[in-house]
This record gives sequence, structure tokens and C-alpha cells, in this order.
Amino acid sequence: MDNQMEKVVALCKRRGFIFQSSEIYGGLNGFWDFGPLGVELKRNVKDTWWRDMITLHDEHTTPAGAPQPFSMVGLDCSIIMHPQVWKVSGHYDLFHDFMVDCRECKSRFRADHISSSDCPIKPSKRPGEHDKCQLTDPREFNLMFKTTIGALAGEEGAAFLRPETAQGMFVNFKNVLDTQRVRVPFGIAQVGKSFRNEITPRNFIFRSREFEQMEMEFFCHPEQSLDWYRFWRDRRYNWYTGLGLRSDRLRLRDHAQDELSHYSLGTADLEYAFPFLEAGEFGELEGVAHRGDFDLRSHMEGKLVRDASGNLSPELGSDGKPKYHGSGKDLSYFDDQSRERFVPHVIEPAAGADRATLAFICEAYTEDQQPDDSGNMQPRVVMKFHPKLAPVKAAIFPLVKKGGMPEFALEMYRELKAAGIACVYDQQAAIGKRYRRQDEIGTPYCVTVDGQTIEDRTVTIRDRDTLEQRRVPASEVLGEIQAKLRG
Ligand code: GAP
Repeated sequence: MDNQMEKVVALCKRRGFIFQSSEIYGGLNGFWDFGPLGVELKRNVKDTWWRDMITLHDEHTTPAGAPQPFSMVGLDCSIIMHPQVWKVSGHYDLFHDFMVDCRECKSRFRADHISSSDCPIKPSKRPGEHDKCQLTDPREFNLMFKTTIGALAGEEGAAFLRPETAQGMFVNFKNVLDTQRVRVPFGIAQVGKSFRNEITPRNFIFRSREFEQMEMEFFCHPEQSLDWYRFWRDRRYNWYTGLGLRSDRLRLRDHAQDELSHYSLGTADLEYAFPFLEAGEFGELEGVAHRGDFDLRSHMEGKLVRDASGNLSPELGSDGKPKYHGSGKDLSYFDDQSRERFVPHVIEPAAGADRATLAFICEAYTEDQQPDDSGNMQPRVVMKFHPKLAPVKAAIFPLVKKGGMPEFALEMYRELKAAGIACVYDQQAAIGKRYRRQDEIGTPYCVTVDGQTIEDRTVTIRDRDTLEQRRVPASEVLGEIQAKLRG
């Protein structure tokens, strides 16, 4: 692993952001636990996404770049869905990677990752390069985790942990239309766990077997769909840069024609230059796809395939009947103003909460030199999280443990807590050391109560990035921090 990435992983462990799952039993490959600070950081990532998509959305205004105003609603669907969902969506037949086994060392590799994998017998070589390697031919491996419902054995009770949250939105399209006062165009958003039995989970939490997605399905008129596709692509790019990802490490890459799924009319990936990648390489953070009417039609008609003339039609089994039947429910939309009936097209921004969190961690990691309490320059590790994402927003310190300072500082701490600001109180060690502790977890503001506070009720606020310390009335601290978190 790259040196920078090793430092990031070590910090995540040391300060309680991310632990290996079941670590005391040796860990479980592809599974991770978010520690006390990691859970706050990831929750802030998901909340910021949800606020952008749902809470702060104004359905009466046309956002910049959008063709018209639109509605947004949320869902929280079950992880195990009807097995037919995955047959119709194509995951049952098509959601696989090719794997290669080594009969000698019993390791398994993704066929398309061989050239970037290490041979377990001799890590300086690639699998297959060592004399002892005995690689099998590539074989298909379905990535869905299988489970059993109730006491039914065999295929009858077989079900799957969802490999994406998206299908929950498609199968509830009619429920949302029938129960909410929404009109096309509108979006349905969901945040939740997804599971993929990845052949080679790797690169910390980048590719894991259990992860969270933040997906939104946007239903629109086919004639407006390209405009909406461009709108969501640009808006999602701006979401990441607005939260601090630098534009030279983040890129928006349009898929070439031969990269597109058989149903997609256009896809763009938002990619980040993670430190574990070679210089010039980028890893996927999010895909924004124009899915046409593929999903709603599949759930009406059954699993679709493209025929010789390029049209989608139900795939037929050997008996000439649809291989996997759809729900048979009418998922078309009737526009009572234009008197037109159509199957909406779908634009899907599909993001990974874990990958976004990892990108924000990698971007935040900074090393610099700062003077200690005696004025000597010392190396400092500082996590420059955007204040909205920082797990702790403020730390409150009494300069010393006497003279009424701890009491005053505790009162401030309780005032901030009561207002919902994630903050900590710390009176242990020299003040410089306490600043350093907060810098390392990315706390943007440190508030210090000193001798002058007791005389005039003013405190200092230290900014993590500029190191500027300003004296302000204690009564204004809460308002200042709230304004910074909003801004
Ligand atoms: N509904 C479309 C869909 O699921 P995807 O590109 O397969 O599209 C969307 O997944 C996002 O989910 C990815 O861009 C990535 O951020 C995240 N993701 C996918 N597989 C992942 C894995 N094994 N570990 C962590 N995140 C993953």
C-alpha cells in the first residue's frame, strides 16, 4: 500500500474512525466497523446528501441548470426483497465477475485484477508468474449473497441480500405515485446497506462486501431525459467539490459507447484519485446513469434484453415464454395536463457512502509544521474536514484547571451540546497538546476559556486551518459556530 494510504489507515485505527470487523478474531476480509468518530463522519456524509436531496429541496423553485421545478421523496426499503426482483432486474443472470483460482496456494483472484494483484507465494510477482502457480480458467461468480427465508429449504426459500438499493425505488414507484402528491418529474432517494460478495475486496473500505449506498431514481418525461441527465451529472459533481474535494483529484468521466450497460443511454462516473492508486489513475465514487425506461418496463414485462434491431423486449425461455415474468402491474404514468400516457425514463445518481467517506478522509489528511508551546516547530497531522462533515465541531478547553475556568468551560460545553453541536470538553495536558489532539481528528474550532474570560466573559476561538485565534464574547460562540456550519 502507498505510504500516504498507510498513514491514513493507521490514523483511522488510532483515533477510532475505522476498525477491522471482528478484529479480535483476526478480522473478516471485506467487512469493516466504523468507530466512534467514523460513525459520526459517515453519518454526516449521509445526512448532508439527504439534506441536499430531500430536506432542503424546494419543489416550487427551478434549481440552476434544471429544466423545471420537481419533487423529491425518500424511502427506506427492506434489504431482502422478493427473489423475482433480482431475476427481472438482471442481477440473477448477469451480476457476476470472472474469477480465477490458484490450485497451488488456494487463492482466488478477479480475472480482470490479475495484472494488479500480488502472487501470494511471491508478492513481487503477479498470479501465474511463479513456477508453482496453477491458475484455473476464468469462471463466472455471482456476487449476490444468498440466504434462506424461514424454514423452507433449497431453492424454494432462497433469497438474496440486495446488491443495490435502487430496486426498492422501482418496485415502489406506483406506491409513491398513489400515496404522495407528486407529478413527473420527481425523484425517490434512499440510503442503506448493500451487499456484494466481492471476489477480492481491497483498498481499505473502497471495495468491501457490505457497504452503504446513497441512490436516487429520478423519473422524467423521455423527451426531457437528456437535459435531466446533464443536470444531475453536474449537480453531483458540485456536491463533492462543495464539501472540499479538490477538482484536480475529482473528475467526471463520460463512459465510452462500449462501456455502457445494454440499457443505458449515457453514464458518467465521478472518480477520485485515491492515494492507493497509481499516479494518473482514478477510482469510482459514483455513477450517474441514464437508464431509459428499462427498469419500470422490466418490472412490468419481465427481464428485458436488446434484440437484433436494438429494441428491448422480454427475454424468452426455451418454451417461448418470458424467461422471468414481471409483476404485470401497470407502471406507466398518465399526465392529466397533457393527457399523455408514457413510461418515465430514469436518471440514477448512485453513490457509495463508504467510498465518499474514504475520499473525504484522504482529502482531509494533511501534514504540516506548527510551533509547540515553547515555540519550536513540530510536525502536525491535521484532518481538514469540511466543518459540515467533521465528526466533532468544537472542543472547549479551560486554559488551566482552576480560577473558575473549568466551570465556565463546562457551562459552554453544555450550551453547545443542548443546541445539537457535537462537541467535547478537555482539560487534560498542555493547551498545545490539546489543540493537536483535535487537529488530528479534524475539529474545526477550539474554544479556550482563560483568565480574561472570568473578568469580561470573552473567550478565544481557534480556527484549525488558519490557526487564527479571535477573542469573542462567550455569548456569541454558539451563533458563530452555527453560522459556520450553515455556510
Ligand atoms: N444502482 C446502480 C449501482 O448500484 P454501482 O456503480 O454498482 O451502481 C454504485 O454502485 C456505487 O456504490 C459505486 O459508485 C460505489 O461508490 C458503491 N459501491 C459499489 N460496490 C461497492 C463495494 N464493493 N464497496 C464499496 N462501495 C461500493
